[in-house]
Amino acid sequence: MEQTTLDAEPKAHVKKDTASTKAKEEEFIKSCRPLKDMLDSVRDIEGCPIGKDEDILAQSDAPWYTACPNPYINEFINVFGKPYEEDTDDYERKPFVSDLSEGKNDPIYNAHSYHTKVPHKAIMKFIEHYTDEGDIVFDGFCGTAMTGVAAQLLNRKAVLSDLSPAATFIAFNYNTLVDVHEFEQETKIILAEVEKECGWMYETLHTDGKTKGRINYTVWSDVFICPYCNQEYVFWEAAVDEEEGKVNEEYTCPNCNANLTKRSCSRSANEYFDSAINQNVIRVKQVPVLINYNVGKKRYRKKIDENDLNLIKKIEESAIPYWFPTNRMPDGDESRRNDKYGITHVHHFYTKRNLWALSFLANRIQKFQPSAALNFMLTGILPRASLMHKWKKGQTTGITTGTLYVPSLIYEFNIRKMWEERPRYVKELLKMRSSLKYCDSIISTQSSASNYYPKQLNRLHLH
Ligand SMILES: C[S@@+](CC[C@H](N)C(=O)[O-])C[C@H]1O[C@@H](n2cnc3c(N)ncnc32)[C@H](O)[C@@H]1O
Ligand SMILES: [Zn+2]
Repeated sequence: MEQTTLDAEPKAHVKKDTASTKAKEEEFIKSCRPLKDMLDSVRDIEGCPIGKDEDILAQSDAPWYTACPNPYINEFINVFGKPYEEDTDDYERKPFVSDLSEGKNDPIYNAHSYHTKVPHKAIMKFIEHYTDEGDIVFDGFCGTAMTGVAAQLLNRKAVLSDLSPAATFIAFNYNTLVDVHEFEQETKIILAEVEKECGWMYETLHTDGKTKGRINYTVWSDVFICPYCNQEYVFWEAAVDEEEGKVNEEYTCPNCNANLTKRSCSRSANEYFDSAINQNVIRVKQVPVLINYNVGKKRYRKKIDENDLNLIKKIEESAIPYWFPTNRMPDGDESRRNDKYGITHVHHFYTKRNLWALSFLANRIQKFQPSAALNFMLTGILPRASLMHKWKKGQTTGITTGTLYVPSLIYEFNIRKMWEERPRYVKELLKMRSSLKYCDSIISTQSSASNYYPKQLNRLHLH
């Protein structure tokens, strides 16, 4: 087989906004009937999300992105595609043969996590090899649609589809034009509001006993029961060597000095009434142990004190005044792996403080239209805002990917601070998106295992 010579970096093509592209875009939009009139035609397609019509319509940005099977794919291909003529078609490519390695340390790649993401630069090499400019690329298992990003940077179009509504929501936010200036203004307005609403939840008293500090993060620890003395002990106090930043596998009981490992102990648990689901919940015990905070520009750490515990108690005893999802975790070994710890519903994945701040953010975001880019910023911070964010001294390693594992030592980050810092993470993506053409991709939420796909897809070169 002949080896393909590769450029070190695939080159993004400069796009020209020609009048004909604009005219085609208008022709396409004109041909699309409103989504609300089309819903009945897609409802029975495999993978159509279970949801209220109003929610599907609110989430969608038809015709480009629908939170249901996209009824406009046929027309998109009719308008933008090149008809396949069997008699005259002379498409031929040598197989793409090369080692391919692309790092994941890319600001666009990292703008939003997803469990199975592929760097767009790796995909660009395949697209460049197998297709020509102006072609349409199809990815029926698109995930966050890095295929779409790759296609658009190379002046191709893309039909993108995934079974997961979360995936297509992220895909939409990776592949469509955005008004960066407006977005930045809105994030600042929301930042001021979240400070006003939630600032008090992240305050702590400096060790001088009088100055207010602003919490960066609080470390929480599991609480276990020693099998020898039957006393509770805080895992942090028994097992962590803070100076070294090490968690010892073997340690001694702070009460009776017996040799212990985590596995030899049971977990301490509490029963409480969860008003969000109107149920009593037996939940393993986790307690705050350490605070990292700022006074002015200077960082400090301290052990949790009485005031901090009182603040947490006050939050625990208050009702969150904003809507947040309370769904039962879906059936499945992984999705219900934390049932045994009393983490059975989605809101259990957050401390009450962070849940409050996140639900406030979600509430504020809905007041802006369109709100997709702001929502994308919010969903982008959720993993690290959750109980899955593992403490590791000196590094914020984030969550363990591919699992819903809740570690014994957790970072509870200040949500206001996360919101403030997040625009930095999405900056490169926003820069790229602001140079996109809106009509370059169309996104559908459905199964690709179903036999429903527009007949026009058969006319594309599928590889
Ligand atoms: C390996 S991931 C693709 C990730 C993608 N390359 C990216 O850049 O994010 C596979 C995707 O297939 C989706 N999937 C699984 N079964 C599907 C089906 N029957 N129809 C469509 N998508 C499906 C999953 O939701 C998942 O997002
Ligand atoms: Zn003991």
